[in-house]
Formats: sequence, C-alpha cells, structure tokens
Amino acid sequence: MSRRVALKVAVWALCLAPLVLLLFRAATGNLSANPISFVTTWLGDWTLRLLLASLAMTPLRILFGLSWPLALRRLLGLFAFFYAGLHFSVWLVVDHFFDWREMGADIVKRPYITVGMTALTLMLPLAATSTVAAIKKLGGKNWQRLHRLVYAIGVCGVLHYLWLAKKANPDPYYYATGLVVLLVIRAGAWGRRRVARLRAAALLPSAARPSLATLSPQGRGPGEGR
Ligand code: HEM
Repeated sequence: MSRRVALKVAVWALCLAPLVLLLFRAATGNLSANPISFVTTWLGDWTLRLLLASLAMTPLRILFGLSWPLALRRLLGLFAFFYAGLHFSVWLVVDHFFDWREMGADIVKRPYITVGMTALTLMLPLAATSTVAAIKKLGGKNWQRLHRLVYAIGVCGVLHYLWLAKKANPDPYYYATGLVVLLVIRAGAWGRRRVARLRAAALLPSAARPSLATLSPQGRGPGEGR
C-alpha cells in the first residue's frame, strides 16, 4: 500500500471513529440524561473540528512546505459536510419532525440557527463540486473562487457556536482563536504572493507585461490558492 493510500485509510478511520463511538454509546444507553442534546452537540463538535482540520491543511503546507496535507483537504471537508448533515438531521427530525413552519420560525428567531443554516447551505455547492469531473467542468480558477466559500463557512460555524454557548464555556473561544490563526496564515501567504506578482510585473518591460489579472502563481492546482 502506498503511503498516500495508507494516510487516507487512517483519515477515514479517524473521521468515522466519532460516529462509531456515538453509536456504541447509544447501544449501551450512555447518552447522558438528555440524549437529543448530547447527540446534537456531539455531531456539532465534530462538524466544527473537521471543518477546521480541512481549513488547516493549506496552512500546514505554507508553514512546513508539506504536500500531503493538500491530499486530505477534500476528504476532511466532505466528512465535515457529512457530520453537518447528521447534526442538521437531528434538529430536522427529532427536534421539529419536519414541521417546516416551526423550523422557519426557529431559523428567523434564533441567530445561532440562522448562521448554522447559512454554513450548511454554503457547504452544499462545495460538496456538489468536490469531484474531479466537477473541477474539470468548472475550470480550476472558477473552482478555486467557489471553494473560497470555505472561509465563510468556517466563520459561520464558529459564530454559531459562540452564539449558542453559555458565557462560562471557553470552548467556542478556542475554536475562534484557531480559526483566526488559520486565516491569518493564509492571508499572509496571499499577501506575499500578491507582492511577488506586483514586483514581477514591475520588472517586466512594458511591452511584454501581461495584465495583472492574467498573472497566476505557478505550481498551484485547484484549491491550492484557497
Ligand atoms: C457547518 C455547520 C454547523 C456547525 C459547524 C455546527 C456546530 C455546532 C457546535 C460546535 C455546537 C455546540 C456543541 C457543544 O455545545 O459542544 C452546535 C450546537 C447546535 N447546533 Fe450546530 N452546527 C452547524 C449547523 C447547524 C444547523 C444547520 C443547525 C440546525 C438548523 C444546527 C443546530 C444546532 C443546535 C440546535 C445546537 C444546540 C444543541 C444543544 O445544545 O442541545 N447546527 N452546533
């Protein structure tokens, strides 16, 4: 088995472990005094962890020059979507049992539900375009642009948690700090690339100078600029 395949198998196992553990707890009647809340928060926590893990892959490459994290980004993002879907399903089926009017009222009335729904909705086009065929169809540039939505999803996911958590709970602040650190690393790399491009354009003789819009950083595949 190649190293890359072994890494993916390990990530699959790690990503499925929380679900297996949750099912085990359910089978052994170990879901606390409030099982619905326990299941919702368990799935919500893992959605956010996997979302931030997928967002951390590019900074790992930026900081340490590693290439393998990029191969895991899509997988982690899809698992985040999977857990978000399960998390939402509990709210849809158990909390409201498909009562659309009640759900609409909940979305409008509670800001944390509004941003949670926004995050989930924004995840849909990313999950739908996660295949190689979709990347080809959209074209690398458009795909990259679309997949920048992942930042907005990260922000909405953290806001959702900050809004719903009790003031004394420090956990959402840890996630918020993690997200800010990841975004700062990416913004720094983006800024350096931009400066390098401007310098390169300034150094070229004016006749040979392409417009800045056509200058693209070298060696980056779909999504590597996100
Ligand atoms: C990317 C999308 C989402 C993320 C990252 C996310 C994440 C989270 C997190 C981290 C928690 C708190 C867990 C804890 O207290 O330890 C949570 C709770 C909750 N989420 Fe989400 N969520 C998302 C989408 C949604 C959606 C779409 C809904 C419903 C429309 C929703 C409904 C809830 C509810 C009701 C709770 C409170 C559970 C309770 O305290 O009993 N979430 N979510």
